[in-house]
Amino acid sequence: MNETIKTILNHRSIRQFEDKPLTDEQIKSIVQSAQSASTSSFIQAYSIIGIKDKEKKKKLAELAGNQEYVEKNGHFFVFCADLYRHSLIGEQEQKDVLPSLESTEKFMVSLIDAALAAQNAAMAAESMGLGICYIGGIRNHLEEVKTLLKTPERVIPLFGLAVGWPAKITEQKPRLPFQHIYHEDEYQQDSEIYLSQLKEYDELISSYYEHRTSGKRKDRWTEQMAKMLERKNRMYMKEFIQNNKLDLR
Ligand SMILES: Cc1cc2nc3c(=O)[nH]c(=O)nc-3n(C[C@H](O)[C@H](O)[C@H](O)COP(=O)(O)O)c2cc1C
Repeated sequence: MNETIKTILNHRSIRQFEDKPLTDEQIKSIVQSAQSASTSSFIQAYSIIGIKDKEKKKKLAELAGNQEYVEKNGHFFVFCADLYRHSLIGEQEQKDVLPSLESTEKFMVSLIDAALAAQNAAMAAESMGLGICYIGGIRNHLEEVKTLLKTPERVIPLFGLAVGWPAKITEQKPRLPFQHIYHEDEYQQDSEIYLSQLKEYDELISSYYEHRTSGKRKDRWTEQMAKMLERKNRMYMKEFIQNNKLDLR
């Protein structure tokens, strides 16, 4: 197994970091790695906002549901879907780009681009021995995040990425069975097979939690998912996106 795959397979989210900032050189390598990701039609429809200001980090940690590691880390990046620069390009080139820029398709492209860039950034950081944790919690209060980061129209802050020197390394979380995720030639739709694979996974996850919490937690994955999906949260998202002139048609 090569070193890249070893790094990828060794991933686990880190939620406690040493009080040691990343160097500017490290930040640059991480951002350049993000920028090297493939991008749909060369559109580069994302931006990355690095947060150094301590007060801003503190505020973001609060907005993300009081997640301490948003404030205490080596650096905090916010990944945004971004079609703002393309609206300026339309004006500069005197082309009517808005019907396309405001389509669901282009919004999807910007989400995919941002996610690919972020995962390259995460891998670059982990390859340097740093730990990472994605922070979707910033979407709890996007209006406030937008004001704090001064993002213009057509820019949606999607998630944060806390990066730093790990202070506590947790156990890895086992993933779904290979056969459950990987289909060959066509989608395997047999629900009996699907459910039996999930049962097998439930047992694995249940014993994982039992071991990790010394018996305090034993939840099955399907149980966890059903509970999480039963809750309606961030239901304001469509309105927020459309108010920011994306996904309108
Ligand atoms: C887009 C995204 C948003 C996430 N948001 C949070 C978050 O707000 N807080 C947190 O502690 N973990 C967050 N995570 C981390 C996931 O909980 C974690 O990746 C998942 O439980 C699997 O665990 P692992 O990364 O340790 O393998 C997020 C992950 C992703 C991809």
